[in-house]
Amino acid sequence: MDSDSVKQLQIALKGKEIGHNIHFLDKISSTQNYATNLIEKSRLPLHGLVVIAKEQSDGRGRMGRKWISPAGGLWMSIILQHWLTPKMLPIIQFISALAVADSISEISGLACTNKWPNDLLVRGKKICGILVDVDFEGNRVNNVIIGIGLNANFSANDKDDLANLVGFSGITTLKDELGYYIQLSDLTKLIFEKLEHYYALLKENKIKVIVDLWKQRSEIFGRQVTIEDGKDVFEGRALGVDDNGILQIKLSDGSVKEVLFGDVNLSITPHASEPNLT
Ligand code: BTN
Repeated sequence: MDSDSVKQLQIALKGKEIGHNIHFLDKISSTQNYATNLIEKSRLPLHGLVVIAKEQSDGRGRMGRKWISPAGGLWMSIILQHWLTPKMLPIIQFISALAVADSISEISGLACTNKWPNDLLVRGKKICGILVDVDFEGNRVNNVIIGIGLNANFSANDKDDLANLVGFSGITTLKDELGYYIQLSDLTKLIFEKLEHYYALLKENKIKVIVDLWKQRSEIFGRQVTIEDGKDVFEGRALGVDDNGILQIKLSDGSVKEVLFGDVNLSITPHASEPNLT
């Protein structure tokens, strides 16, 4: 993506809620940090503004991890400032994941699945991570920054440092899967349009529709998983998510644990060979 294609993109998205204002930068520390600074410094509403960087020197992943962000990836942050309550935040992760997964599938034909809460996988390998930063006071959400890190036009094999970041399931990129480069501005436009569509569903309170669509792409249900919630590590079988986006895990003692925050690692055992959920 270059500045000309970003200008075209902004023109095409004029009047739209998301992507009508894009800050496009060469190399910065992190689009999340840049967006946070913009919010701190600006008195103007920034709803729908997007920050895109060609490269990040200090990209941030979930749970305090580093996110390696070489040239060729799609590294961006989207600011939302309307309509949201703290309860909706897990669903924001779902609509972001759905928007990106749908866009990947549409532009490339690749089957894209998701892993709770918001990793996207192709052939079981991570292709995209999503980090949602939130600033809220009590029941009021002031700002949400959706950070999307999509491994696009580079090869994971060229980047040894990437492999350390995501556990045994490994990582992949669109280039590795397709063997060719895709037009990043087209993919970005699709993501904005789809996010706007799913965001409209959220505003209409169609949470169940969103959660059901998200479940259809889910990789984990019925499978044995290990969860790291930042404090504990525990194992169990992923049963499903409820309409608040909370993950239910059946532990070995038969009890069901609800998980609001954490990282899921899949067991190598495929679900077909595993015993019943009940
Ligand atoms: C994860 O850990 O899976 C989430 C990764 C999110 C990375 C993106 S890249 C664009 C935005 N800027 C950041 O510093 N992080 C997010």
